[in-house]
Amino acid sequence: MELYIDSANLKEIQDTASIGIISGVTTNPSLLAKEDPTLDVKELIKHIYATIGGHVSVEVVSTDTAGMLREADEILKWFPEATIKIPMIPKGLAAVKELSRQEIPTNVTLIFSPGQALAANNAGATYVSVFLGRLDDIGSDGVAVVRETCEIWDQHGLESMIIAASIRHPIHVLECAKAGADIATVPYKVLQQIMKHPLTDSGVATFVADHEKMMKSKGAV
Ligand code: G3P
Repeated sequence: MELYIDSANLKEIQDTASIGIISGVTTNPSLLAKEDPTLDVKELIKHIYATIGGHVSVEVVSTDTAGMLREADEILKWFPEATIKIPMIPKGLAAVKELSRQEIPTNVTLIFSPGQALAANNAGATYVSVFLGRLDDIGSDGVAVVRETCEIWDQHGLESMIIAASIRHPIHVLECAKAGADIATVPYKVLQQIMKHPLTDSGVATFVADHEKMMKSKGAV
């Protein structure tokens, strides 16, 4: 399963890109709003793309089809490889249908049920983003929705790539990998948690200490 970072923070993106664990970046208006307000969004997005050189989803904020298509045109002028992130509303699906006709990749976001994912697939979405953490937040089972969506995909050989989004912790990532999601888009903090194990840290410390002890006993230090 591929990992993307769910962030608009350049430092977080550079940090994780430099160790090779991510192949894409998903942004949204709320993530962009957390960044320094003096930053130019277009320049920031271009920097993000230059850093990752892979998938970058950029979200539109219009809620009408024509507005979404206008925004998509603008984003594609920033960099033509952009994936246009579109909300899971009927007017959004009309935009997805048109962008798909033009072979422009789309990521349908704010999906909370397998039915919504199916509708987005049928409209021509390249990616469907299932928001599992927000389902957990309201007492539903987000992983179950990802699992059910994957089952439907397997049954019918559907084409959209399934992105597990709104990830809250490492177990979410593993459960989505087991369910068969193609991609998990993961916050920086959770990416750090995935890589960390106390036995790895203590193991490294012991190896370094034992090596130094051995060198000392040989008189090399
Ligand atoms: O990629 C979707 C994600 O940004 C939503 O996450 O944490 O706002 O539910 P969250």
